[in-house]
Amino acid sequence: MALERTLSIIKPDAVGKNVIGAIYNRFETAGFRIVAAKMMHLSTEQAEGFYAEHKERPFFRALVDFMTSGPIMVQVLEADNAVRRHRDIMGATNPADALAGTLRADYAVSIDENAVHGSDAVESAAREIAYFFTEEELCSRTR
Ligand code: TYD
Ligand code: MG
Repeated sequence: MALERTLSIIKPDAVGKNVIGAIYNRFETAGFRIVAAKMMHLSTEQAEGFYAEHKERPFFRALVDFMTSGPIMVQVLEADNAVRRHRDIMGATNPADALAGTLRADYAVSIDENAVHGSDAVESAAREIAYFFTEEELCSRTR
């Protein structure tokens, strides 16, 4: 199995609920290492750029408004098979469909305010990590 990195975001709703530590505990219990982290309050331009792949979707403006509505916690997680395993512990995009015990089942209220982000593939993880972090900021065991 390959050691991978994925980009994780704790979104403004979950930061507002004061559950950063609870979510970090889930990551660490599941065997992920946090190799970089920063709290940010995104500008409109930063949020639009991050979600550029969705810019033609009907929910795009609401998504950007939500992601700029308060601070977020951005981290790089490292583990074997990190991208898939992180998606698994996040749960489905719509919390109504998320399995019990997943982050979205426990912390999200709706599809548009769904607590967490995770990269969906190794290639998008590399792009998303580079969007927020320089190579020097990644405190990886693999360096
Ligand atoms: P998407 O990449 O499809 O989901 P995921 O976050 O699970 O990778 O969509 C990005 C975000 O856009 C999603 O987390 C919440 C928002 N969104 C909506 O508000 N409504 C929708 O119908 C969809 C598909 C996404
Ligand atoms: Mg996605």
